[in-house]
Amino acid sequence: MFVRMRNLWRYPSWLYRTPAEKFPDTSSDTLRVLARLHAVRNELGERSVANNLGALYTLPHPLAAKTYALFLDQNPNHLGHWADKPPQQGATIRLEYEVIRAMTDLYGATGKHLTGYITSGATEGNIFSVWLGKTYLSRFSPPEKIRVLMTSLTHYSVRKAADICGVQSDIVGIHTPTWAMDPDSFLETARRLHKKGITGILLPLTLGYTSTGTSDDIAVISQAVTRLQKELPRLRIFVWIDAATQGLVTPFLSDFRPFRDPNIQTIVVDFHKYGLVPYSAGILLYRRAMQTLIERPIEYLRETDATLSGSRPGARYENYDEYVKRLKAIEDIATNKKGVSESFAIQAGREVRVIVNPEALTDDEAIRLSAEIRDEIKEKVTYPGTVTVTIIRELRHSEVAK
Ligand SMILES: Cc1ncc(COP(=O)(O)O)c(C=O)c1O
Repeated sequence: MFVRMRNLWRYPSWLYRTPAEKFPDTSSDTLRVLARLHAVRNELGERSVANNLGALYTLPHPLAAKTYALFLDQNPNHLGHWADKPPQQGATIRLEYEVIRAMTDLYGATGKHLTGYITSGATEGNIFSVWLGKTYLSRFSPPEKIRVLMTSLTHYSVRKAADICGVQSDIVGIHTPTWAMDPDSFLETARRLHKKGITGILLPLTLGYTSTGTSDDIAVISQAVTRLQKELPRLRIFVWIDAATQGLVTPFLSDFRPFRDPNIQTIVVDFHKYGLVPYSAGILLYRRAMQTLIERPIEYLRETDATLSGSRPGARYENYDEYVKRLKAIEDIATNKKGVSESFAIQAGREVRVIVNPEALTDDEAIRLSAEIRDEIKEKVTYPGTVTVTIIRELRHSEVAK
């Protein structure tokens, strides 16, 4: 009842004014700040996002939302690079490590060969890839002799990345029946540029373009790359896969092991596109041998950093497995007790509701049981905050009048 009232309740609009577009002279009191924020939240609540997959906007899965809530008050910072060895401490950092390892495995590789980090999304992954690729190619080629080759269906973030990293770009034609990069046009463009003195090429291949879903044929373009490198030994080519949109589903639909191909250096994937997780969350994986090219010591810590971001939020890395295991462990402790018929861990494991059989336990025994369950949870389960144990002993009896 109370919960329903709270949902219906609106802060009256006289409590807040839509702020003038100038920095306020005085601070606002908490009530006014909350009133304004709730008004904005109500606006969001009125949106219908049920069919918004095409706009890459889905509501977070309740588990994902709880994950954020679970860690937000701790506000862990993931500054640095955590893919190398399981950190001994650093709670959520360990979760980032586990996510990277799991994703490395999903793409058919091992931690010996790949490294990476959790990014803010595919734009960051693409900027990172141009940065890494340019640094790698600059060992063999003057920086001004490096070009990005892309199609008109390469995501615009690649052009942004090229601008940021000071690399010019050229357009390769599209093979119209498939709308993928045309291998002949790629060969022709690369040969023409090489004749003009270009000695390094950065080549993003798309796996799922935003609005059309089109993909480049990675195997076909990679064959063209191998052929070109034999033909033009002074030309180096750094290839990566921008799999922002389809990187999460492809391994479940086909045997997708991109790093078996020695031409592929990085993969960029988003979790937030269809994964029902809140913005922003993506992952970048790349060949471990390249890490030292961009790794730098952090002067004020004993760590090194091989990311583009610097400080990164740690609240987004809860490992769902661990979360589900914890809920199950709490429920199992209760369910295994004598006289218990069912138990439900709720509120992300902050409470367990235990339904007891009224014929098997008296009221006093039920109260003793709650203490027993509490003690066993304390002893066997690791959890943040507290876990409330609520016992429900309800006697229902009915007679049917015919
Ligand atoms: C293929 C591709 N690359 C990159 C991006 C940019 O992703 P983000 O918005 O996560 O930075 C998108 C976004 O839709 C995309 O579809």
